[in-house]
Amino acid sequence: MSPSVGPVTLMELTSGVYAFKALAMATELDVFTELSNGGRTTTTTFADRHRIALRPAELLLTACTALGLLRRDAEGFYSNTQMSEEYLVRGRPYYFGDWVMVVDRHEYPAYLKLADSLRGNHPATWDVELQESLFDPAVAEYFWEGMYSLSANTARLLADAFDFRAINRLLDVGGGGAAFGIELCRRYFDLQVTVFDLPFVCDLTRPRIARAGLEGRIGLAGGDFFADTLPTGHDALLLSNILHDWDEADVLRIIRVCADAIPPGGRLLICESFVADDKAGPPLAALMSFNMLVETWGRNYTAAEYSTWLSEAGLHPEGVTAFEGPGANGVLIARKP
Ligand SMILES: C[S@@+](CC[C@H](N)C(=O)[O-])C[C@H]1O[C@@H](n2cnc3c(N)ncnc32)[C@H](O)[C@@H]1O
Repeated sequence: MSPSVGPVTLMELTSGVYAFKALAMATELDVFTELSNGGRTTTTTFADRHRIALRPAELLLTACTALGLLRRDAEGFYSNTQMSEEYLVRGRPYYFGDWVMVVDRHEYPAYLKLADSLRGNHPATWDVELQESLFDPAVAEYFWEGMYSLSANTARLLADAFDFRAINRLLDVGGGGAAFGIELCRRYFDLQVTVFDLPFVCDLTRPRIARAGLEGRIGLAGGDFFADTLPTGHDALLLSNILHDWDEADVLRIIRVCADAIPPGGRLLICESFVADDKAGPPLAALMSFNMLVETWGRNYTAAEYSTWLSEAGLHPEGVTAFEGPGANGVLIARKP
């Protein structure tokens, strides 16, 4: 008896690893920057430039073309597509390549130890005996650059989804990298932001704020949200991709610490990839949640779960405004009575 569905979907899922590695290899070689602003290359020129044989050059260029990262014209010249021109050219404001490199350097090797994570219920991207958490100077060289790359693209959508004119001073809790602070300040001219993060992360983030020319509007406050009280004087607090890093008990602890720092009438904004309440998707949220297996002891929670914890902390959940960002699919707003 023939199967009632074809197996190609399974082959496509299996090929996800090939697709990712083609993107990562091309990003590492900086192919898209090389082809920016109307640049073109043949396979031969590309092979010569990167000192590789014709066969691997052709395989990589063909894979990138099939994936919509490059286009090939009738004469055999390769050039950037709009997506690679906008997001994969180094130095562009929404450059995504640093996130690709985090997945390649930091997460991809951990998947070789996935079974250990699954059986032992512990992360694999860092040594739990040697580090207190993922957020360690050991990954300082690339992790927050990668977060910026992912989050600048998400912050742009949050800026559309929520009207920050209602807010004067925003505390971005765990806002290291300052992607949200920078993007929101660029869009909302009266907004002042304080980024609260671990002291060494504040040091890493300072130069980026200076490069954006926003030292006058984005302040940094070093501290630990498990040990310190949060700075006060802000009418809203943002938690972006923080809570999925922690288990349920720690999520509630962080929400309570935030609730204490919010003045009456103030708001808490939780920006995350929410898993649907029926836990059937959506794929990006479910897969980021799965990825928390190798990264942390957290998972991506549902809006219903958050609403329960927010209520327990004395905040009134007001629902999720959905959007489609790479690092979040919505923002859950809660108000302190
Ligand atoms: C996944 S990153 C999210 C960064 C940023 N909110 C964004 O969305 O781009 C988590 C952040 O939480 C910060 N963090 C982790 N533990 C912390 C703690 N105990 N106190 C303060 N910040 C912490 C990390 O340093 C890191 O910047």
